[in-house]
Amino acid sequence: MTKRLPNIAVLGATGVVGREILNILEEEKVEYNSIKFLASSRSAGSLIEFKGQKHTVIETTDNVFDDIDICLASAGGKTSERYAPVAKEKGCVYIDNSSAFRMDKDVPLVIAGVNDEDLKLHKGIIANPNCSTSQLMLPLKALDDKFKLKRLIVSTYQAVSGAGLKAINELTDNIKTNLVGMPYEPSAFKYEIAFNVIPQIDSFTENGYTKEEMKVTNETRKILHLSNDVKISCTAVRVPVYIGHSEAVTAEFEHEISPDVARALLKETPEVEVRDDSATFTYPTPKEAAGKNPVYVGRIRKSLAFDNGIDFFCVADNLRIGAALNTVRIAEKVIEMELY
Ligand code: A2P
Repeated sequence: MTKRLPNIAVLGATGVVGREILNILEEEKVEYNSIKFLASSRSAGSLIEFKGQKHTVIETTDNVFDDIDICLASAGGKTSERYAPVAKEKGCVYIDNSSAFRMDKDVPLVIAGVNDEDLKLHKGIIANPNCSTSQLMLPLKALDDKFKLKRLIVSTYQAVSGAGLKAINELTDNIKTNLVGMPYEPSAFKYEIAFNVIPQIDSFTENGYTKEEMKVTNETRKILHLSNDVKISCTAVRVPVYIGHSEAVTAEFEHEISPDVARALLKETPEVEVRDDSATFTYPTPKEAAGKNPVYVGRIRKSLAFDNGIDFFCVADNLRIGAALNTVRIAEKVIEMELY
Protein backbone atom coordinates (compact mmCIF):
# COMPACT_ATOMS: atom_id res chain seq x y z
CA MET A 1 0.00 0.00 0.00
CA THR A 2 1.39 3.44 -0.88
CA LYS A 3 1.59 5.75 2.09
CA ARG A 4 -0.42 8.97 2.24
CA LEU A 5 1.89 11.95 1.79
CA PRO A 6 1.49 14.74 4.35
CA ASN A 7 0.18 18.26 3.92
CA ILE A 8 2.89 20.47 5.38
CA ALA A 9 3.16 24.12 6.45
CA VAL A 10 6.03 26.46 7.26
CA LEU A 11 5.05 28.79 10.11
CA GLY A 12 7.21 31.92 10.22
CA ALA A 13 7.90 31.54 6.49
CA THR A 14 8.87 35.22 6.17
CA GLY A 15 11.51 35.14 8.96
CA VAL A 16 15.25 34.46 8.79
CA VAL A 17 14.97 30.78 9.77
CA GLY A 18 11.68 30.33 7.89
CA ARG A 19 13.28 31.45 4.64
CA GLU A 20 16.17 29.09 5.23
CA ILE A 21 13.65 26.27 5.79
CA LEU A 22 12.23 27.06 2.34
CA ASN A 23 15.74 27.02 0.79
CA ILE A 24 16.42 23.64 2.34
CA LEU A 25 13.02 22.25 1.32
CA GLU A 26 14.03 23.16 -2.24
CA GLU A 27 17.35 21.29 -1.84
CA GLU A 28 16.27 18.21 0.11
CA LYS A 29 13.91 15.60 -1.23
CA VAL A 30 11.05 15.92 1.23
CA GLU A 31 7.94 14.08 0.07
CA TYR A 32 4.72 15.97 0.71
CA ASN A 33 1.30 16.43 -0.81
CA SER A 34 0.77 20.18 -0.31
CA ILE A 35 2.57 23.10 1.33
CA LYS A 36 1.32 26.30 3.04
CA PHE A 37 3.28 29.42 4.03
CA LEU A 38 2.17 30.92 7.33
CA ALA A 39 3.10 34.14 9.16
CA SER A 40 1.36 36.87 11.16
CA SER A 41 -1.30 39.28 9.87
CA ARG A 42 1.59 41.72 9.17
CA SER A 43 2.82 39.81 6.14
CA ALA A 44 -0.35 37.88 5.25
CA GLY A 45 -1.14 38.43 1.57
CA SER A 46 2.49 39.03 0.57
CA LEU A 47 4.09 36.71 -1.96
CA ILE A 48 6.82 34.15 -1.39
CA GLU A 49 8.74 32.48 -4.19
CA PHE A 50 9.18 28.74 -3.76
CA LYS A 51 10.29 26.22 -6.37
CA GLY A 52 9.92 28.83 -9.10
CA GLN A 53 6.33 29.75 -8.21
CA LYS A 54 4.82 32.60 -6.24
CA HIS A 55 2.72 31.65 -3.19
CA THR A 56 0.56 33.83 -0.95
CA VAL A 57 1.50 34.05 2.73
CA ILE A 58 -1.46 33.06 4.93
CA GLU A 59 -2.28 34.54 8.33
CA THR A 60 -1.89 31.97 11.12
CA THR A 61 -5.21 31.19 12.81
CA ASP A 62 -6.51 28.12 14.65
CA ASN A 63 -8.38 26.95 11.55
CA VAL A 64 -5.35 26.74 9.26
CA PHE A 65 -4.19 23.65 11.13
CA ASP A 66 -7.35 21.71 10.22
CA ASP A 67 -5.77 20.07 7.18
CA ILE A 68 -2.04 20.29 8.01
CA ASP A 69 -0.21 17.08 9.01
CA ILE A 70 3.23 18.52 9.77
CA CYS A 71 4.04 22.12 10.68
CA LEU A 72 7.66 23.34 10.57
CA ALA A 73 7.52 26.30 12.94
CA SER A 74 10.00 29.10 13.50
CA ALA A 75 8.00 32.07 14.68
CA GLY A 76 9.22 32.57 18.25
CA GLY A 77 8.24 31.14 21.62
CA LYS A 78 5.04 33.15 22.09
CA THR A 79 3.65 32.07 18.72
CA SER A 80 4.45 28.44 19.50
CA GLU A 81 2.89 28.65 22.95
CA ARG A 82 -0.24 29.97 21.25
CA TYR A 83 -0.45 27.58 18.28
CA ALA A 84 1.43 24.35 19.12
CA PRO A 85 -1.33 23.07 21.48
CA VAL A 86 -3.98 23.95 18.85
CA ALA A 87 -2.06 22.18 16.09
CA LYS A 88 -1.50 19.15 18.32
CA GLU A 89 -5.20 19.02 19.20
CA LYS A 90 -6.03 18.95 15.50
CA GLY A 91 -3.68 16.02 14.86
CA CYS A 92 -0.87 18.05 13.33
CA VAL A 93 2.77 17.25 14.26
CA TYR A 94 4.28 20.59 15.29
CA ILE A 95 8.08 20.76 14.87
CA ASP A 96 9.10 23.76 16.93
CA ASN A 97 12.25 25.85 16.68
CA SER A 98 11.54 27.90 19.78
CA SER A 99 12.56 27.06 23.33
CA ALA A 100 8.93 26.94 24.55
CA PHE A 101 8.59 23.15 24.87
CA ARG A 102 12.17 21.85 24.68
CA MET A 103 12.47 20.68 28.27
CA ASP A 104 8.88 19.37 28.46
CA LYS A 105 9.13 15.64 29.26
CA ASP A 106 6.46 14.77 26.68
CA VAL A 107 8.34 16.59 23.92
CA PRO A 108 11.24 14.83 22.18
CA LEU A 109 14.24 17.12 21.63
CA VAL A 110 15.91 15.77 18.55
CA ILE A 111 18.94 16.20 16.32
CA ALA A 112 18.37 14.09 13.22
CA GLY A 113 20.99 11.37 13.10
CA VAL A 114 21.72 11.62 16.83
CA ASN A 115 18.57 10.53 18.69
CA ASP A 116 15.98 9.70 16.02
CA GLU A 117 14.44 6.97 18.18
CA ASP A 118 13.15 9.67 20.58
CA LEU A 119 10.81 10.84 17.78
CA LYS A 120 8.67 7.75 18.37
CA LEU A 121 7.72 9.15 21.79
CA HIS A 122 6.18 12.34 20.40
CA LYS A 123 2.67 13.36 21.43
CA GLY A 124 2.18 16.05 18.79
CA ILE A 125 5.06 18.43 19.49
CA ILE A 126 8.72 17.85 18.62
CA ALA A 127 11.37 20.39 19.58
CA ASN A 128 14.41 21.48 17.66
CA PRO A 129 17.32 22.26 20.01
CA ASN A 130 18.92 25.65 20.49
CA CYS A 131 21.44 26.48 17.75
CA SER A 132 24.54 26.34 19.94
CA THR A 133 23.50 22.95 21.35
CA SER A 134 22.64 21.56 17.92
CA GLN A 135 26.01 21.88 16.23
CA LEU A 136 27.79 20.26 19.14
CA MET A 137 25.61 17.13 19.23
CA LEU A 138 26.95 15.34 16.14
CA PRO A 139 30.65 15.37 17.18
CA LEU A 140 29.84 14.95 20.86
CA LYS A 141 27.52 11.96 20.35
CA ALA A 142 30.29 10.12 18.46
CA LEU A 143 32.84 10.94 21.18
CA ASP A 144 30.46 10.10 24.05
CA ASP A 145 29.48 6.74 22.52
CA LYS A 146 33.13 5.71 22.41
CA PHE A 147 34.82 7.44 25.36
CA LYS A 148 31.90 8.31 27.73
CA LEU A 149 31.64 12.00 28.48
CA LYS A 150 32.46 13.10 32.04
CA ARG A 151 32.78 16.89 31.86
CA LEU A 152 32.06 19.50 29.21
CA ILE A 153 33.10 23.15 29.04
CA VAL A 154 31.85 25.21 26.09
CA SER A 155 32.50 28.83 25.11
CA THR A 156 30.41 30.09 22.21
CA TYR A 157 31.05 32.83 19.65
CA GLN A 158 27.57 33.33 18.22
CA ALA A 159 26.50 35.10 15.04
CA VAL A 160 23.88 37.86 15.08
CA SER A 161 21.54 35.97 12.70
CA GLY A 162 20.66 33.78 15.68
CA ALA A 163 18.78 36.81 17.01
CA GLY A 164 16.68 37.37 13.83
CA LEU A 165 16.39 39.91 11.04
CA LYS A 166 16.42 42.94 13.33
CA ALA A 167 19.79 41.91 14.78
CA ILE A 168 21.29 41.35 11.32
CA ASN A 169 20.23 44.83 10.25
CA GLU A 170 21.51 46.29 13.50
CA LEU A 171 25.03 44.93 12.88
CA THR A 172 25.11 46.55 9.42
CA ASP A 173 23.75 49.90 10.63
CA ASN A 174 26.03 49.87 13.66
CA ILE A 175 29.15 49.23 11.53
CA LYS A 176 28.21 52.00 9.06
CA THR A 177 27.54 54.46 11.87
CA ASN A 178 30.80 53.62 13.65
CA LEU A 179 32.82 54.03 10.46
CA VAL A 180 31.66 57.61 10.03
CA GLY A 181 32.23 58.35 13.72
CA MET A 182 28.56 58.86 14.61
CA PRO A 183 27.00 57.66 17.90
CA TYR A 184 24.75 54.57 17.72
CA GLU A 185 21.90 53.57 20.03
CA PRO A 186 21.63 49.74 20.06
CA SER A 187 18.21 48.13 20.36
CA ALA A 188 18.50 44.42 19.44
CA PHE A 189 21.49 44.14 21.79
CA LYS A 190 22.34 45.69 25.16
CA TYR A 191 25.61 47.13 23.82
CA GLU A 192 26.91 48.06 20.39
CA ILE A 193 27.70 44.84 18.50
CA ALA A 194 29.90 46.47 15.83
CA PHE A 195 33.61 45.93 16.58
CA ASN A 196 32.61 44.45 19.93
CA VAL A 197 31.68 41.17 21.68
CA ILE A 198 28.82 40.86 24.16
CA PRO A 199 28.97 38.23 26.93
CA GLN A 200 25.21 37.96 27.26
CA ILE A 201 22.75 35.99 25.12
CA ASP A 202 19.16 35.84 26.42
CA SER A 203 18.36 36.92 29.98
CA PHE A 204 20.18 36.04 33.20
CA THR A 205 19.01 33.23 35.48
CA GLU A 206 19.35 33.00 39.26
CA ASN A 207 22.62 31.04 39.17
CA GLY A 208 24.43 33.76 37.20
CA TYR A 209 24.34 31.84 33.92
CA THR A 210 22.21 33.17 31.05
CA LYS A 211 19.25 31.24 29.65
CA GLU A 212 21.27 30.54 26.49
CA GLU A 213 24.04 29.01 28.60
CA MET A 214 21.55 26.89 30.54
CA LYS A 215 19.98 25.75 27.25
CA VAL A 216 23.34 24.28 26.19
CA THR A 217 23.66 22.54 29.57
CA ASN A 218 20.12 21.15 29.85
CA GLU A 219 19.50 20.35 26.19
CA THR A 220 22.82 18.52 25.78
CA ARG A 221 21.88 16.35 28.76
CA LYS A 222 18.42 15.60 27.35
CA ILE A 223 19.54 14.82 23.77
CA LEU A 224 22.48 12.59 24.74
CA HIS A 225 20.60 11.03 27.68
CA LEU A 226 23.42 12.02 30.05
CA SER A 227 23.16 11.58 33.82
CA ASN A 228 23.49 14.48 36.23
CA ASP A 229 26.99 13.21 37.07
CA VAL A 230 28.20 14.66 33.77
CA LYS A 231 29.18 18.24 34.56
CA ILE A 232 28.46 20.84 31.87
CA SER A 233 29.28 24.54 31.86
CA CYS A 234 28.86 27.14 29.11
CA THR A 235 29.71 30.78 28.42
CA ALA A 236 27.73 32.21 25.49
CA VAL A 237 29.01 35.29 23.69
CA ARG A 238 27.58 37.28 20.77
CA VAL A 239 30.16 38.34 18.15
CA PRO A 240 29.89 40.62 15.11
CA VAL A 241 29.53 37.79 12.59
CA TYR A 242 26.43 37.49 10.37
CA ILE A 243 26.21 33.71 9.96
CA GLY A 244 28.04 30.84 11.68
CA HIS A 245 28.40 30.01 15.33
CA SER A 246 31.82 28.92 16.65
CA GLU A 247 32.46 27.01 19.86
CA ALA A 248 35.62 26.33 21.82
CA VAL A 249 35.05 22.99 23.55
CA THR A 250 36.89 21.18 26.33
CA ALA A 251 35.63 17.64 26.92
CA GLU A 252 36.80 15.20 29.55
CA PHE A 253 36.00 11.48 29.21
CA GLU A 254 35.91 8.36 31.40
CA HIS A 255 38.16 6.47 28.97
CA GLU A 256 41.54 7.33 27.57
CA ILE A 257 41.34 9.49 24.44
CA SER A 258 44.00 10.92 22.14
CA PRO A 259 43.69 13.68 19.52
CA ASP A 260 44.60 11.20 16.76
CA VAL A 261 41.92 8.69 17.76
CA ALA A 262 39.33 11.49 18.18
CA ARG A 263 40.28 12.94 14.77
CA ALA A 264 39.93 9.54 13.09
CA LEU A 265 36.56 8.93 14.74
CA LEU A 266 35.19 12.36 13.78
CA LYS A 267 36.39 11.90 10.19
CA GLU A 268 34.07 8.91 9.98
CA THR A 269 31.12 10.63 11.65
CA PRO A 270 28.34 11.51 9.16
CA GLU A 271 27.67 15.25 8.74
CA VAL A 272 30.92 16.12 10.58
CA GLU A 273 33.87 17.43 8.59
CA VAL A 274 37.32 17.57 10.15
CA ARG A 275 39.45 20.55 9.10
CA ASP A 276 42.50 20.16 11.24
CA ASP A 277 46.11 20.65 10.21
CA SER A 278 48.16 23.29 11.97
CA ALA A 279 51.03 22.88 9.49
CA THR A 280 48.80 24.30 6.75
CA PHE A 281 46.77 26.60 9.05
CA THR A 282 43.72 24.46 8.38
CA TYR A 283 40.86 25.00 10.82
CA PRO A 284 37.20 25.99 10.47
CA THR A 285 35.90 29.57 10.53
CA PRO A 286 32.29 30.81 10.32
CA LYS A 287 32.79 32.54 6.97
CA GLU A 288 33.59 29.22 5.29
CA ALA A 289 30.83 27.34 7.14
CA ALA A 290 28.05 29.78 6.17
CA GLY A 291 25.62 28.28 3.66
CA LYS A 292 26.92 24.73 4.21
CA ASN A 293 25.36 21.78 5.99
CA PRO A 294 28.18 20.00 7.88
CA VAL A 295 29.51 20.70 11.35
CA TYR A 296 33.20 21.56 10.98
CA VAL A 297 35.71 20.52 13.65
CA GLY A 298 39.34 21.53 14.01
CA ARG A 299 42.07 22.51 16.50
CA ILE A 300 41.76 19.05 18.06
CA ARG A 301 44.40 18.75 20.77
CA LYS A 302 45.10 17.05 24.07
CA SER A 303 43.72 19.11 26.93
CA LEU A 304 46.35 20.40 29.33
CA ALA A 305 43.68 20.74 32.02
CA PHE A 306 42.19 17.21 32.11
CA ASP A 307 43.87 13.80 31.83
CA ASN A 308 41.40 12.12 29.48
CA GLY A 309 40.50 15.38 27.83
CA ILE A 310 40.59 17.02 24.43
CA ASP A 311 40.05 20.59 23.26
CA PHE A 312 38.53 21.37 19.88
CA PHE A 313 36.90 24.16 17.86
CA CYS A 314 33.53 23.52 16.28
CA VAL A 315 31.88 25.73 13.63
CA ALA A 316 28.56 25.48 11.76
CA ASP A 317 25.95 27.56 9.94
CA ASN A 318 23.61 28.42 12.82
CA LEU A 319 20.66 28.92 10.48
CA ARG A 320 21.14 25.46 8.94
CA ILE A 321 22.17 22.68 11.34
CA GLY A 322 21.35 25.02 14.22
CA ALA A 323 17.79 25.56 13.05
CA ALA A 324 16.31 25.14 9.55
CA LEU A 325 18.24 22.09 8.35
CA ASN A 326 17.49 20.08 11.48
CA THR A 327 13.83 21.11 11.35
CA VAL A 328 13.56 19.84 7.78
CA ARG A 329 15.46 16.66 8.63
CA ILE A 330 13.15 15.99 11.58
CA ALA A 331 10.21 16.40 9.18
CA GLU A 332 11.88 13.94 6.79
CA LYS A 333 12.30 11.40 9.61
CA VAL A 334 8.69 11.88 10.75
CA ILE A 335 7.56 11.17 7.19
CA GLU A 336 9.98 8.24 6.74
CA MET A 337 9.03 6.69 10.08
CA GLU A 338 5.32 7.43 9.38
CA LEU A 339 4.91 9.25 12.69
CA TYR A 340 2.23 11.70 11.49
P1 A2P B 1 5.72 38.30 10.05
O1 A2P B 1 6.58 38.44 8.80
O2 A2P B 1 4.27 38.36 9.72
O3 A2P B 1 6.14 39.21 11.16
P2 A2P B 1 12.39 36.62 12.63
O4 A2P B 1 12.80 35.72 13.75
O5 A2P B 1 13.33 36.62 11.49
O6 A2P B 1 12.06 38.01 13.10
O7 A2P B 1 10.99 35.98 12.02
C1 A2P B 1 9.85 35.72 12.80
C2 A2P B 1 8.81 34.99 11.94
O8 A2P B 1 7.71 34.65 12.79
C3 A2P B 1 8.22 35.85 10.82
O9 A2P B 1 7.89 35.03 9.72
C4 A2P B 1 6.97 36.41 11.47
O10 A2P B 1 5.95 36.78 10.55
C5 A2P B 1 6.51 35.21 12.25
N1 A2P B 1 5.62 35.59 13.36
C6 A2P B 1 5.86 36.45 14.37
N2 A2P B 1 4.78 36.55 15.18
C7 A2P B 1 3.82 35.74 14.68
C8 A2P B 1 2.48 35.41 15.03
N3 A2P B 1 1.90 35.94 16.13
N4 A2P B 1 1.78 34.55 14.27
C9 A2P B 1 2.37 34.00 13.19
N5 A2P B 1 3.62 34.27 12.77
C10 A2P B 1 4.35 35.13 13.50
